[in-house]
Amino acid sequence: MGKVYVFDHPLIQHKLTYIRDKSTGTKEFRELVDEIATLMAFEITRDLPLKEIEVETPVQLATSKVLAGKKLGIVPILRAGIGMVDGILKLIPAAKVGHIGLYRDPETLQPVEYYLKLPSDVQEREFIVVDPMLATGGSAIEAVNSLKKRGATKIRFMCIIAAPEGVEAFQEAHPDVDVYIAALDEKLNDHGYIVPGLGDAGDRLFGTK
Ligand code: PRP
Ligand code: URA
Repeated sequence: MGKVYVFDHPLIQHKLTYIRDKSTGTKEFRELVDEIATLMAFEITRDLPLKEIEVETPVQLATSKVLAGKKLGIVPILRAGIGMVDGILKLIPAAKVGHIGLYRDPETLQPVEYYLKLPSDVQEREFIVVDPMLATGGSAIEAVNSLKKRGATKIRFMCIIAAPEGVEAFQEAHPDVDVYIAALDEKLNDHGYIVPGLGDAGDRLFGTK
């Protein structure tokens, strides 16, 4: 079974409170999602491999560490996942970015794929699929299905708020994929919204309704 990691760093939790607040406007919401994504990227990259190189300091020659150059790919689930991309790229600017377009049919709550563009070397890359919300889990499950169908073998899923129902469904569908979240909320309501959640992440990020 995949592991679930909750990033409960105080800065992440603080910013999360303000994106939950319904009086937070689009500009601030977008900035906070961006900052949370950066902080989560810091946590998720803890296990990146390093290699030693020699560096000449003003004092003497030293052996020091740099990233070993692992090939990373970020895959936001459109639309709301886009709000997390720049924040992640601030820390790992060399990562390639794929896109997967999915929307939840409001009646059935089933994900419908409308766009997919991935880096060409899918098999060699480690992917982080990102979306602020994991509700029923349908979108995240479908996004990972899509990546696996194209040959991806190393995948992680990162979201800001998850519902227990979504985590369970995701783990059942993809037991090989670890999940990284900032908050595990209480439940889903009858409309498939996370409770207490933050409402519709895409609408709040882009100012649509
Ligand atoms: C939201 C959210 C996730 C999905 C989560 O997107 O950003 O992608 O719902 O729900 P699920 O776990 O039940 O699939 P939405 O479908 O509203 O599309 P949008 O990003 O274009 O607003
Ligand atoms: N998608 C959202 O944007 N919010 C929810 O609460 C559930 C799905």
